[in-house]
Amino acid sequence: MNIDFWKQRWLDGQTGFHLDSVNTYLIHYWDLLCANNETVVFVPLCGKSLDMIWLAHQGCHVIGVECSDKAIAEFSSDNNLMLQQKITNGFDVHENKNICLIHCDYFELTADMMRSVSVVYDRASLVALPPEMREKYVKKQCEVLPENIKILLITLEYDQDRMSGPPFSVSQDEITKLYGCMFNIRELSTNNILASESRFQQRGLDYLIESVYLLER
Ligand SMILES: C[S@@+](CC[C@H](N)C(=O)[O-])C[C@H]1O[C@@H](n2cnc3c(N)ncnc32)[C@H](O)[C@@H]1O
Repeated sequence: MNIDFWKQRWLDGQTGFHLDSVNTYLIHYWDLLCANNETVVFVPLCGKSLDMIWLAHQGCHVIGVECSDKAIAEFSSDNNLMLQQKITNGFDVHENKNICLIHCDYFELTADMMRSVSVVYDRASLVALPPEMREKYVKKQCEVLPENIKILLITLEYDQDRMSGPPFSVSQDEITKLYGCMFNIRELSTNNILASESRFQQRGLDYLIESVYLLER
């Protein structure tokens, strides 16, 4: 599952993961992140998430990383944003005053771009990756981000034998394994959301647990 897979999904319009409204967990738990108008929020594997618009409206600076140029173009046109394209530290960057989208493979990010980040918002990002890539994903985050970060992480858990990902099932045990040695992990909520997710019912799932975690270094 490399970036070509995702670029093709954008080209084919297979973007069922995109939400037409701001994620309610982000709004609900935002205060726990103690952010202020100087906070820089990193949104890995950002797609064209409206959550970035909401974050910018809170006064934060948003850094997203996305491999699909179509996703970036749609983010800009859907939200009537004028993003200026330039090269920064060798990366193709699309930005305005509050939002900076880095058009690249997440696994090629460098610390230069991430020095001021203090919060990470991860919705549909860790769970977009198959097991062998999730470990690399977390390792990369620790490698390029400053030490004292907080992460708001939203995961899904279901019977992986009933459906192939993405999104992939990521259990609480795996979260502990991936982040536990560096982060204090607090589970903020966990709900079976299958009843309101017809597309996952149709794919044969018998439960779909959505969990929200706050990870603090
Ligand atoms: C499941 S979507 C989630 C998007 C967003 N977080 C949201 O909530 O709508 C995953 C996104 O990550 C992008 N992506 C996947 N692998 C990537 C990589 N290695 N580097 C950069 N972007 C990647 C895909 O193009 C896709 O837009």
